[in-house]
Amino acid sequence: MQFERISHPAPVPGKTRAEAIANPGFGTLFTDHMVTIDWSEDKEWHNAQLAPRGPLTLDPAASVLHYAQEIFEGLKAYRLEDGTMALFRPRENAARFNRSADRLAMPNLPEDAFVAALEALVDADKDWFPTVEGGSLYLRPFMIATEAFLGVRPAKEYKFILIASPAGNYFKSGAPAVSIWVSDYTRAAPGGTGAAKCGGNYAASLVPTREAFDRGHDQVLFLDAAEHRYIEELGGMNLFFVFDDGRILTPPLTGTILPGITRDSIIDLAREEGLDVVEEMYTLDQWREDAASGKLLETFACGTAAVVTPVGKVAGHDGEFTIGSGGPGQLTSKLREKLTGIQRGTAEDTRGWVM
Ligand code: COI
Repeated sequence: MQFERISHPAPVPGKTRAEAIANPGFGTLFTDHMVTIDWSEDKEWHNAQLAPRGPLTLDPAASVLHYAQEIFEGLKAYRLEDGTMALFRPRENAARFNRSADRLAMPNLPEDAFVAALEALVDADKDWFPTVEGGSLYLRPFMIATEAFLGVRPAKEYKFILIASPAGNYFKSGAPAVSIWVSDYTRAAPGGTGAAKCGGNYAASLVPTREAFDRGHDQVLFLDAAEHRYIEELGGMNLFFVFDDGRILTPPLTGTILPGITRDSIIDLAREEGLDVVEEMYTLDQWREDAASGKLLETFACGTAAVVTPVGKVAGHDGEFTIGSGGPGQLTSKLREKLTGIQRGTAEDTRGWVM
């Protein structure tokens, strides 16, 4: 990759970089550089660059603009106590990126190139690491179809791009637990693209998400497409349910749910805690009943952006219910501590998750 380093002394109007990274919020502040790599049928992957971050030039007929041939990933870089930067399970993201690419008829990017891109950008932009407590550098790799062609078939040209965004808390509210709205809309159907991380899934979630926000909730919950009874996932995160008998449940990966890397890590960490982790279908009605009887102690959402976030309240057209005391539960807090300890290097990484 070619390196051209720049620095923006004032990235946000009226703010210095130091001021901006002290309170970055989520997803609005960006670093100085980006990585781009092109793909074409004859040259495969070529023209890898680490360049100043800036607007893209695309033909208005580029396939991505018409048929949404796009995939993405989300992962974070952390600063360890010794000042070095770390990535958490980046090869898992690389592998999932290629599974998404397969589903969207896009070329695979070699895992080594994916990781090299992450390393190059984090190295170039490490001074953007946020100073806010719990901050991280959120990395967003994505791929778009750039071929100018209006026929409906897989494109013959693509661009891989990686950008970085200093990040604080994903949820603006800062509330101790989030509130979720049960949507009547469906996110993914069997045989669809639910397990792929493609922009189209998120585009389809925006009307239900707006409905959730308008009603004062933080996230939207999707039920299964066929029966509209089983809990699948939230708009951008997976769910876990903690019971009073030492069981912890998460919906199984049936092909309609995003296989979260945080989800996978939590399953491992919970088993280490001696919990009986089950991947089973769970209905909204059962959830309501278990919350009322006290059998269900906690519910939490997890994802790269959300980390581990307690769910306090659930509302839908049939009324609402509260989980436990409505605040963070003990196990939720413990698992969050365990995970973030490993990610930030304050807890031992016995699995080799940190790079
Ligand atoms: C993530 O957690 O990284 C996600 O991709 C969820 C959302 C921000 C789209």
